[in-house]
Amino acid sequence: MAETTTVNPAWEAKTINHNLSVRLAVKPADITWYKTICPGIWYGCLESDSAIWDSPLTQITRFDPGGFFYEHGHPDGEEILVLQGSFQDETGEYSPGSYQLNPEGFVHVPSSLEGCLTFVKLRQHGGDGRQAVKININDLSWQPTSIPQIKVKPLYQQEGFPDEVWIEQWEPGTTLPQVIEPKIREIFVLQGVWADELGEYPAGTWLRYPANCPYIPSSPTGCEVYVKTYAFRHLK
Ligand SMILES: [Fe+2]
Repeated sequence: MAETTTVNPAWEAKTINHNLSVRLAVKPADITWYKTICPGIWYGCLESDSAIWDSPLTQITRFDPGGFFYEHGHPDGEEILVLQGSFQDETGEYSPGSYQLNPEGFVHVPSSLEGCLTFVKLRQHGGDGRQAVKININDLSWQPTSIPQIKVKPLYQQEGFPDEVWIEQWEPGTTLPQVIEPKIREIFVLQGVWADELGEYPAGTWLRYPANCPYIPSSPTGCEVYVKTYAFRHLK
């Protein structure tokens, strides 16, 4: 569990990394941790657009041992990937590698007895008919891709919705030619080192490549990364 080196005032709504046309790489050391009003709960905010409760939000949430949220709902859904420790709510207890997509209408009281670290996305899964997902990526099998050095574990894809989520594994020394994609691509580095022509990014780094942004991805050490692509985001 990362130590808190900076104690800031309680979280207040902020605008940070909200412009989807800007290329970003936020390393773990760049994250500022904020206390919340919930006991033992900290936010490291990666993406927010002015108001935490009604805007798309991407964050690392840290639970101190015994930390808990008050009961809350999730308009436009919630996505949780457990990174460390044990996360718990009414639906069960979730170990590292657990991935949940909770569509809108979901209400819970999350907590953690031992403490945990989670990667969370809020208000990015709106619309009726979303399928809930509750799986552990460690239980899934790697599937081949058209590139022999890259394998995937699909997590979420649903007809009629623009977003897609999967885990990607790159063998050490893999480099691709310049990539240009029509969708926005977000990456969260889970293991190893992700790299592009601008730098190298350790585990815990969150990156966002805008649509049609050229870049040259590679992995010197090999890596596992969470990947999310989407064509657009509904506007608030
Ligand atoms: Fe929640």
